[in-house]
Amino acid sequence: MTTKKPIKADKEVHPSGDERYLAIDRTMKQFNYEKDSLLEVLNAAQEAFGYLSRDLLIYISTQLKVPMSQVYGVATFYHLFTFEPQGEHNCIICKGTACHVKGADRIIEALSEEFEINAGETTPDGLFSLTIARCLGSCGLAPVIVLNGQVYGKETPEAVRRRAAEVVSFSKEEQTQTMEVG
Ligand code: FES
Repeated sequence: MTTKKPIKADKEVHPSGDERYLAIDRTMKQFNYEKDSLLEVLNAAQEAFGYLSRDLLIYISTQLKVPMSQVYGVATFYHLFTFEPQGEHNCIICKGTACHVKGADRIIEALSEEFEINAGETTPDGLFSLTIARCLGSCGLAPVIVLNGQVYGKETPEAVRRRAAEVVSFSKEEQTQTMEVG
């Protein structure tokens, strides 16, 4: 008796050769390439690539038939979009009114001091980025930060500094171990 081998489905390949574009294509298809889906598509692109490069913006503009000026306009309006590659760890500090009043600047200062970078920058070793947002929509928890995608509210500069330093030092240890093994 012969057993039939299962037929393997061909892996989906994007014409660009970069599979991350598939996530963007899927979102565009889901919304029938409607111009109104620009925000969702930008979100998908940011998630897939970690930041919005000029090439990505051109791709989205062409596919959705939305002028580049509009794509730029939307992307720059929302502070959660970034245009440079981010570090391995990313801390977003909300500087909206409520968070500002509750001391967001002191948190930014603490992190700037800890990692020797300014807001909007990434450490030279690529391990940590400090990002600013306008309002993260959780004003009742001010001051609010998002560290590696997790939201923390009613934060103090010391607590954020400690938390961020911990995740970064963990990555540094991992790097050292990999180098020792290699
Ligand atoms: S002002 Fe910070 S969450 Fe709204």
